[in-house]
Amino acid sequence: MPANATLLNGAPPTGGDVRARPPDEIVAMIEKSDLRGRGGAGYPLAKKIAAVRDAAKATGRAPLVIANAYDADPDSPLSRTLIKHSPLGVLRGTMIAAVAVGAREAIVYLHPKAEDERRALESELAKLEGSLGGVLISVALGPGGFMGGEESALMNVLESKRAMARQRPPYPASLGVEQRPTLISSAETLAWLPHILERGVRADSKLVSVTGAVRSPGVYEVALGATLAEILDAAGGVIGELKGIHVGGPTGGILSATRRGTRLDFDELRAAGTHMGSGQIRAIAEGTCIVAEAAKLFAYLAKETCGICVPCRVGTARVQGILESVQSQLGRDEDTKWLGELGDHMEQFSLCGFGITAPSILRTTMYEFAEDYRAHIEDHRCPTGSCKPVRARRYETMVQP
Ligand SMILES: Cc1cc2nc3c(=O)[nH]c(=O)nc-3n(C[C@H](O)[C@H](O)[C@H](O)COP(=O)(O)O)c2cc1C
Ligand code: SF4
Repeated sequence: MPANATLLNGAPPTGGDVRARPPDEIVAMIEKSDLRGRGGAGYPLAKKIAAVRDAAKATGRAPLVIANAYDADPDSPLSRTLIKHSPLGVLRGTMIAAVAVGAREAIVYLHPKAEDERRALESELAKLEGSLGGVLISVALGPGGFMGGEESALMNVLESKRAMARQRPPYPASLGVEQRPTLISSAETLAWLPHILERGVRADSKLVSVTGAVRSPGVYEVALGATLAEILDAAGGVIGELKGIHVGGPTGGILSATRRGTRLDFDELRAAGTHMGSGQIRAIAEGTCIVAEAAKLFAYLAKETCGICVPCRVGTARVQGILESVQSQLGRDEDTKWLGELGDHMEQFSLCGFGITAPSILRTTMYEFAEDYRAHIEDHRCPTGSCKPVRARRYETMVQP
């Protein structure tokens, strides 16, 4: 697997004399590089920049750039790794994005626990007297919690409100922080910009956090298009027999080991029923109960939901309840139907990516590990023998047929 290690290899380039380049030329170079947002959804950066510039022109409001370095998934510290490796690379990328949209101000947004990274950025900024290429850059801390990294919750946080999502449209590009056109991009996305401007490279690698049953867990830069099997090998290989691969972090689906040939590609992962998400790739060993894994994930999501929309606030709690009942040998035949319906409802009607993507956990596990569900529900036993009951009674708030 060719890993170009562009972002984690050596000192970051300067990006040249950015101010001397017309913004249209910068956008054209970004477009040519094929840079898609690394924060999870893979939206092309050049399109987002164009939308912010258009909105700034139309409204006359000063645009703003935010480098999202929050790392909402605590097991996938991609931005932290980048900042540790090269705080200046992240700051330069943020400055280039600001020049491209015509902003004079930018913010690097961090998790409150990222104290070392905050110090590293502030120390670079002190040397630069707070501004780089004429752009004033500051550091802001999020609230903690998974939703703090979601872009519309992040805007609320920067306006001193609670980290709850906002209805979109309007998108941040047109109506962002304090109603300013706002470019919100992952720090990893922006860290590509000095490389693209100086060397005209294609953005063809991705940082991933390889966790779980592998010999050398950690953050790796791998080629986009590498197979999941190659990525697990890059992390020292799987310990024992592989049962599944959990891709995309807390809202990501779990693929069976037979799908280890799936490629790390925004579209291919979606077609496989999961997504790039937080960039975490977790190896799950044989002997692990997938029902228990799904229950654990939904317990986490039910705790982390911002709760502003009903499909997700109620859906995560009900799915957690049903999965924990199944895990505790209290399952019923109709549970799979209920899980399917709750998942459909969350996916169709949730307000933000959290609730829209979380059902991928249900889709993938119920389809690819159907035997784990069947044994629990029909035979009232865990096929791996590893499940411990977590509930003494069923979750019965729903009207059941
Ligand atoms: C629950 C949740 C948490 C998120 N956390 C992060 C995060 O920590 N860092 C990040 O860059 N994007 C995160 N995102 C995605 C952002 O909402 C947004 O799409 C992203 O920052 C845009 O950057 P990109 O275009 O470079 O991908 C999260 C999304 C969701 C739904
Ligand atoms: S989907 Fe969940 S996290 Fe997102 S707005 Fe709705 S309640 Fe909040």
